[in-house]
Amino acid sequence: MSGELSPIDKAKFVAAKRAVDFVEDGMRVGLGTGSTAAWMVRCLGELVRDDGLKICGVPTSVRTAELAREVGIDVISLDEAKWLDLTIDGADEFDGDLNLIKGGGGALLQEKIVATASDQMIVIADVGKEVEHLGAFPLPVEVIPFGWQTTRALIEELLVSMDVLGRDASLRMNGDHPFVTDEGNYILDLHLGRIGNPHQLAMALNQMPGVVENGLFMDICDVVIVGHGDGRVETRNINEGTVEQDRLDFLESENLFSDLQD
Ligand code: A5P
Repeated sequence: MSGELSPIDKAKFVAAKRAVDFVEDGMRVGLGTGSTAAWMVRCLGELVRDDGLKICGVPTSVRTAELAREVGIDVISLDEAKWLDLTIDGADEFDGDLNLIKGGGGALLQEKIVATASDQMIVIADVGKEVEHLGAFPLPVEVIPFGWQTTRALIEELLVSMDVLGRDASLRMNGDHPFVTDEGNYILDLHLGRIGNPHQLAMALNQMPGVVENGLFMDICDVVIVGHGDGRVETRNINEGTVEQDRLDFLESENLFSDLQD
């Protein structure tokens, strides 16, 4: 069954599989959004069903909540959990300091709130997400719909004084209509090319009135688990300064592939 997975899906799967080793009985776990996080939710569901793992999951989007319930994870809200032991999520880019761009799936606001309310954030990613400088992936910025064109103009003006290569901001679309987030907002994707000072940009963006949140996750991630298509996984811990290498076997989770829906 694993032969049906592309190398990139295998890489996402092994990263997800390694990440769930960090989850212990009784934990409150933030559940990220995106294709890599979906693998992790499936792996967790398998542990809940087959090994009796007892956890509560706090999803970061409606679609993750649906998947988590489907695979048997107890879902609670962040307000019920109050604080989380661990959040596991994907990323669109990560750099050597484990700073991230997130929000390619449009869930950056809930993702940032949940990750910030966690003792530890683990990012799972295929090796293609690693960059020397953040910014090749368009930076998602969640804005309120009211006056979004004015907000966009103000952002483009702000970018003139920032250390970035590009300044275009495009409204994310869903067919003929603006993409709407789970919180009812729009997303502007900033085509920056390279972000010289992501800390400065993240702070400046969040000071603009129409901006709800931006997709730069600075100093939030503790561990990145990098998956490779041949089953190798690398676990990098920024706090401990450690890097561990491992290799996972696909066959042990064949049943996860058989009910794959996306
Ligand atoms: C969702 O809003 C994003 O932050 C995702 O975590 C990110 O886009 C990674 O998604 P994939 O795992 O699908 O690449």
